[in-house]
Amino acid sequence: MAQKLKILLASSEVYPFAKTGGLADIAGSLPKALKHLGHDVRVVMPKHKAVAQCPLGLRPMGLDVDVPIGGKRKKGFLYSSQLNGGIPVYLVGNESYFSRDPIYGTRHGDYPDNAERFIFFCRSLLEVCKAVGFQPDIIHCNDWQTGLVPVYLKTVYARDKWFKNTQTVFSVHNLGYQGNFPSSELKTAGLPFSIFTPEGVEFYNHFSFLKSGLVYADLLTTVSPTYAKEIQTKAFGFKMDGILRKRSKDLFGILNGVDYQEWNPESDPDIEKNYTPENIAGKLACKIKLADLFSLKVDEDTPILSMVTRLSSQKGIDLVIEILGDLLAEGAAFVLLGSGDSMYENYFLKIKKQFPDKIGVRIGFDEKLAHRILAGSDFFLMPSQYEPCGLTQMYSLKYGAVPIVRSVGGLADSIKEFNRKTLRGTGFKFKKFEPETLHHTIQKALSVYRNKDPWQKLIRNDMNANLGWDRAAKKYCQLYRRALKIETK
Ligand code: ADP
Ligand code: GLC
Repeated sequence: MAQKLKILLASSEVYPFAKTGGLADIAGSLPKALKHLGHDVRVVMPKHKAVAQCPLGLRPMGLDVDVPIGGKRKKGFLYSSQLNGGIPVYLVGNESYFSRDPIYGTRHGDYPDNAERFIFFCRSLLEVCKAVGFQPDIIHCNDWQTGLVPVYLKTVYARDKWFKNTQTVFSVHNLGYQGNFPSSELKTAGLPFSIFTPEGVEFYNHFSFLKSGLVYADLLTTVSPTYAKEIQTKAFGFKMDGILRKRSKDLFGILNGVDYQEWNPESDPDIEKNYTPENIAGKLACKIKLADLFSLKVDEDTPILSMVTRLSSQKGIDLVIEILGDLLAEGAAFVLLGSGDSMYENYFLKIKKQFPDKIGVRIGFDEKLAHRILAGSDFFLMPSQYEPCGLTQMYSLKYGAVPIVRSVGGLADSIKEFNRKTLRGTGFKFKKFEPETLHHTIQKALSVYRNKDPWQKLIRNDMNANLGWDRAAKKYCQLYRRALKIETK
């Protein structure tokens, strides 16, 4: 093996400790794949309130870190745990910053002190390295919550010997979430005002944590090759496209992988009956159970379409709402698990009352139910406005819930259009963001569903598609070496 690297992965959420979306899945699974390649990888995250429910358990390390925040000193108490596979996880505890549920804010909006909370996280995770005696070659930062780590390393910690060989990789999981705060937070962060320029951390007169990462990290990645191109355009760039074009040589798109230990109908303990591509009989039992769970009046042949999603406009919910009535009239059933925007939550609760036999709705976050829905449904809808990668469509492949997706970002990269002649492909894609096009694509998919042979072939294609971590983890390692200027053949 090439040189063993010391990698610290920093993320605000890590499955199974705390999760609001796909970032947690990645932070909980990429480290396992990196370790499998022989590297010394560790993970650092805040000790959110939700962590207490994690079955992996944690223990106090008897260590603390002490960092300056806005002229005062604040302490972080360290806890440790392990991801399956023996990867150390360090959790930074501070009651007043992190003992909160939900993680980022309530129905009324983001927490007003989010800047301070994540300044504290960024700064303390560097101190954690020293406290536990870990001198990382790479700090792999994820999303705006970790965006200040590269800035600290190039300013306040520039002469710190502990980090003299440390390089940073910053991964963008969603450009729409930027962590933009008033410029006064520079003072809270203890960073010099001289970096508050358009070439530095200034973004439309705000101090942007996302931009900080984009400007200061040694290399940048995002979670699919198509999204890496899209974010350099005005249409998808959320006003960051200029800086991304400027750093285009340092920006790489790597499609996320799937953790098949967690997402596999062959071994999934949460579903009604396990099944495999060779014997998919168990999927019917899962479908019957799903119908039962939601009191749907459907038979074996009724196509069940589903969504498991954050209820945000990003996910194309508006398109689904427009055509839902027609789909039901045409004989389909629909199941949704989601939470988020209350406008969407209320809509689905209302329409469920109107069509109680045909629609199943669960508002909330329910990990087990997510597995059951994928196992029990025939189709999975993801008509996103934009989608950096998207994991649920990849999980749905494994469960034989055929994805119907908009061809953007990682959806374009992970799903191959099914061809009725060659019988190749894994799903159905459309481009135009309009309800009619989604409707038409669903009708095309349903016509395959009604034909036993191509349908069976399609499900097998899906369940056999291998989107595991091996390929992506190797690509990350190549990038880490590139950041470290280690020759690779
Ligand atoms: P995003 O990160 O943009 O929300 P992804 O598809 O990458 O989208 O990842 C979403 C992750 O969150 C998946 O693991 C999915 O199963 C999970 N998820 C989303 N909403 C819910 C929910 N309401 N209940 C349970 N799991 C959910
Ligand atoms: C973000 C994106 C999603 C991606 C996930 C993990 O939440 O919205 O597309 O799959 O991060 O990278």
